[in-house]
Amino acid sequence: MKLDDAGLFRQSALIDGAWLDRADMPVTDPSTGQVIGNIPDCTAAETTRAIRAAERAMVDWRARPHAERADLLLRWYQLILDNTEDLALLLTTEQGKPLTEARGEVAYGAAFVRWFAEEARRINGKIIPSPSRDKKILAMKEPVGVCAIITPWNFPIAMITRKVAPGLAAGCTMVIKPSDFTPYSALALAVLAARAGIPDGVLNILTGRPETIGATLTASPVVRKLSFTGSTRVGALLAEQCAPTLKKLSLELGGNAPFIVFDDADLDAAVEGAMVSKFRNGGQTCVCANRILVQSGIHDAFVSALARRVDALSVGPGTKAGVSIGPMINAAAVDKIRTHVADAVSKGATPATRARDLPDQYADPVVLTGATPRMLLAAEETFGPVAPVFRFDTEEEALSLANGTPFGLAAYFYTRDMARAFRVGEALEFGMVGLNTGLVSHDVAPFGGVKASGLGREGAQEGIEEYLETKAFHLGGL
Ligand code: SIN
Repeated sequence: MKLDDAGLFRQSALIDGAWLDRADMPVTDPSTGQVIGNIPDCTAAETTRAIRAAERAMVDWRARPHAERADLLLRWYQLILDNTEDLALLLTTEQGKPLTEARGEVAYGAAFVRWFAEEARRINGKIIPSPSRDKKILAMKEPVGVCAIITPWNFPIAMITRKVAPGLAAGCTMVIKPSDFTPYSALALAVLAARAGIPDGVLNILTGRPETIGATLTASPVVRKLSFTGSTRVGALLAEQCAPTLKKLSLELGGNAPFIVFDDADLDAAVEGAMVSKFRNGGQTCVCANRILVQSGIHDAFVSALARRVDALSVGPGTKAGVSIGPMINAAAVDKIRTHVADAVSKGATPATRARDLPDQYADPVVLTGATPRMLLAAEETFGPVAPVFRFDTEEEALSLANGTPFGLAAYFYTRDMARAFRVGEALEFGMVGLNTGLVSHDVAPFGGVKASGLGREGAQEGIEEYLETKAFHLGGL
């Protein structure tokens, strides 16, 4: 990995502005299995030190005028963009996604920093009409406090900025635990934050195994909020650990997105949307189409057009030019994908795409026809490049299949009938719905789910509310 700025590659944790160097755990490149570097496995005592540092730093940080915090965020935003090439290369090396997608993630991640820098100036309270002549009541917005941020490996930059930028804008300070598979993107972001002038202790990064760090963060009464992106199982566990200290929670958890194509859809647009939604990051996103539901009249044409596109995808190391799907994050991910495909085929699904002979770290991009709700891939996120197609006849059947899941993150549908567009859009039980688009991820739009997909919203105006409390200030004797 040849970075223009070698200073962006830190193999350390960051506590109170001091880098902690210790080579406890290796981090590997998923495309080769080779060790990229090492990181400290932070202890409970180090986690407590980071929490204390964040608590001390918050005294000054929350007191700064909003415009001052906004200016520092804007400087951070600009530095992230200025270092796009290095950040993208780091990201691809530790995570595996193709470089073009990694560059896209840098821009997506930076957009949250700019958006929340702008939102910092609009943290408005209100004056409530008074119940008596000598009183006034103010509703004032205040930062929640020290926040614990636990982020996943699939978007190592964007998932940090989507949580950290609103928190910093609101006046909170942060203790961040990035995935131990992808810590270097987070550490590079922290280097740039320090260069932007964000003070010591405002942003701390703990590397290492999740159990000890997570248990210490969730048990601490100083930590007032936890924001987590990851599986529903771990989200529920963290919520349980936070219960005794009643922290504010944002949980962005698993999905099982339906992608519905009605007979009257624009075929080319639907195929394009399915490619974007399904194969972004090799299918390793919580909003990716997990179940493709296609109405009988358009089914065969859709399947053959989709299969042609999938057959043309190039699979290989993310740094190789022209590659559209990189390696999966680890062997467990590949195993799960293969188990889902084998289970589906054993229950009657048929591949509509060519078989490939790929090395172990890669998963075959595949379109499967004849998928049914009895298959494992209908019940769980596959988190890989598998596109199972379910055939349906009526709108009611499609809605019943689509909503027949405990998850409620994202859903997509394609139709040109406006009445159906509203009917189906309202009937889908999901936090995000895409009509005639396969992409619902934007800095300006609220991102989050219902049911087992979590609590709270990120991005948009809603995103900053998650880091604010409302204080009612009653003024008497006026
Ligand atoms: C995720 O997969 O957790 C987030 C994906 C996105 O922001 O689009």
